[in-house]
Amino acid sequence: MTGINRANQFEGISTPFYFYDMELLTRTLDILREESDRYGYRVHYAVKANANTRLLKLISSYGFGADCVSGNEISRAVECGFTPDTILYAGVGKRDDEINKALSLNIFSLNAESLPELEVINELAAARGITAPVALRINPNVDARTHQYITTGIEDSKFGINISELDRIVESLKGMNNILLKGIHFHIGSQIRRMSAFRRLCIRVNEIQSWFNSRGIFPGHLNLGGGLGINYQQPDEIPDFKQYFELFNRFLEVRSGQTLHFEPGRSVVGQSGSLITRVLYVKNESATPFAVVDAGMTDLIRPALYQAFHKIETLSPSDISKKYHVVGPVCETADTFGKSVDLPQIKRGDMLAIRSAGAYGEVMVSSYNLRDKPGTIFSDDLRD
Ligand code: LLP
Repeated sequence: MTGINRANQFEGISTPFYFYDMELLTRTLDILREESDRYGYRVHYAVKANANTRLLKLISSYGFGADCVSGNEISRAVECGFTPDTILYAGVGKRDDEINKALSLNIFSLNAESLPELEVINELAAARGITAPVALRINPNVDARTHQYITTGIEDSKFGINISELDRIVESLKGMNNILLKGIHFHIGSQIRRMSAFRRLCIRVNEIQSWFNSRGIFPGHLNLGGGLGINYQQPDEIPDFKQYFELFNRFLEVRSGQTLHFEPGRSVVGQSGSLITRVLYVKNESATPFAVVDAGMTDLIRPALYQAFHKIETLSPSDISKKYHVVGPVCETADTFGKSVDLPQIKRGDMLAIRSAGAYGEVMVSSYNLRDKPGTIFSDDLRD
């Protein structure tokens, strides 16, 4: 277990808290940069996965850009060192003030998801006397075959512009003088572990790009979104960025001068975070016992919301192994981190690590039951 074999060092720190293994994050970023640089691909980290300022500053120091989904994420990204000309702004429901913020900062591109949104962007840009840099987020109708809540690229999804609408949009764009069409954008979903989904995406993008070209439109960039999954069973594993980028290099038809952009989130930060919690009570010893811990679904909602698996490890070894239902204190049955989890025998006061929680963990914290927010500890702040 990298970085979190530190039960002693955690003594005295109140639980629950997020622990970030900065060494693992640094190694991930080193590989991500090396593999993307190999092809000159531009990486825009998806801030939604984890917007912790310390992590963002480290990520921006690698020269990566940011993929944002709200005005506040854009502000946070800029504060943490991402330069506006590397910031993308996506989202189905951009407010006028958020569009204005993006326009005033002159970000790389606003990724528009509908005709009504394009009309608003055009109007707001006209009012400022500028041209808005826009990419069309197109729904490629490629099924990523991941969890239904995180599949985004199929036709009945709320995201993106359907291919059947493209004709009308391209026609309407001719009358929008304050929009500059810079690129086309795709994102088919998240936690994608089967590379074949990305291959199907490439093939569809090639077709869509040809469709644009045949109408005399030559997008300056292609944005392939994010979605590369992590290995929740093997929490220390760094995703295979080499294989991922190789695939795009092999299957995507790139026109000369065109740039390729990616928006990885989970694969960058997921493996570096763990939620550390303490056992409050072990109850119901006769059946499978419940280990009631002090972290709940308010601290990490993924198991409750997506039935997501997160490996649970104890930081207090024991020779005897048992099965436990690991549950939180929140008044919801869904507040369960794992059913029948094999663990060394545990007792009140022991610490558990809920692994692979670096992405969509801390950012999705809520205050339901008026619970406090979990703390945050970085590995490089702990003494060895
Ligand atoms: N680009 C766009 C347009 C997106 O919608 C997303 C994620 C990403 C990039 C980053 O995708 P990633 O590389 O992280 O898969 N809360 C859910 C995940 C929601 C993903 C939303 N969109 C979860 O905990 O699994």
